[in-house]
Amino acid sequence: MSPACVLVFDDEPHIGGRVDAEAEAAMTIWIRTTLHREARDRMSEHRPEPASEERRRSWDERHAASHPIEASHPDPLLVREAERLAPGRAIDIACGDGRNAVWLAERGWRVTGVDFSAVALHRARQRAERAGVEIDWRQHDVVEWTPAESAFDLVSLIYLQLPPEERAGVLARAARALAPGGRVVVVGHHRRNPDVGGHGPRDLHVLHDPDEIAAELAGGEGDDPGRLVVERAEEVFTEDEGGPRIDSLVVARRDA
Ligand SMILES: C[S@@+](CC[C@H](N)C(=O)[O-])C[C@H]1O[C@@H](n2cnc3c(N)ncnc32)[C@H](O)[C@@H]1O
Repeated sequence: MSPACVLVFDDEPHIGGRVDAEAEAAMTIWIRTTLHREARDRMSEHRPEPASEERRRSWDERHAASHPIEASHPDPLLVREAERLAPGRAIDIACGDGRNAVWLAERGWRVTGVDFSAVALHRARQRAERAGVEIDWRQHDVVEWTPAESAFDLVSLIYLQLPPEERAGVLARAARALAPGGRVVVVGHHRRNPDVGGHGPRDLHVLHDPDEIAAELAGGEGDDPGRLVVERAEEVFTEDEGGPRIDSLVVARRDA
């Protein structure tokens, strides 16, 4: 049995600060084995898969098939907003492989990262280890989960593309997680993004319109005494090495 095969039956391989081919291979094996084991268990138990479980699995597979994590950088729109703020407590909702959460932690934010994909969180942990930062990683389906109220100075949701009936609740709960004076930053593929051939989903349902996003953030206020002030609700055109794209950017502040 080769050393790589031994890892197949291990728990998550602990890779520490080293980035090399062996470590990447170990991670790939762990991811494939986890996905395979889940599929085998489902088949042997003849379990029907709930819709949310199917979506999580589909994201696990997408993350497993994606390029090594070193290739990605923090989101430039989040960077621009966060650089204006004094570091405090942040939560990155649908954090993926942790590119934004780790960038925030490196700048002194105390960060919680939430995603429902075990593969994404596995990679995020490795990214944080390599960067030498501590992050509180949590595995939740954010459609069915409520973050702590009034607990964060920054709440970010970057490219979480959900249908409106699910998105509205997620955004309302995200806004309620803001401490007084805190800001929520929502970046998503804009509804007009497909018109310029931008990378991302084509389904209009899950694409963002800044005014709708702003309304959904505020829609959760109810009897909450803190007011939510929308500071930006705009579309942002970018052309870089990834080609052209149109993003929706919404930034809102809870009045202190
Ligand atoms: C396009 S990726 C963006 C990741 C990250 N925000 C970034 O900018 O790199 C979307 C992420 O949302 C996560 N996601 C999708 N639906 C989710 C849900 N219902 N609950 C938790 N995470 C979800 C996926 O696993 C994936 O990591």
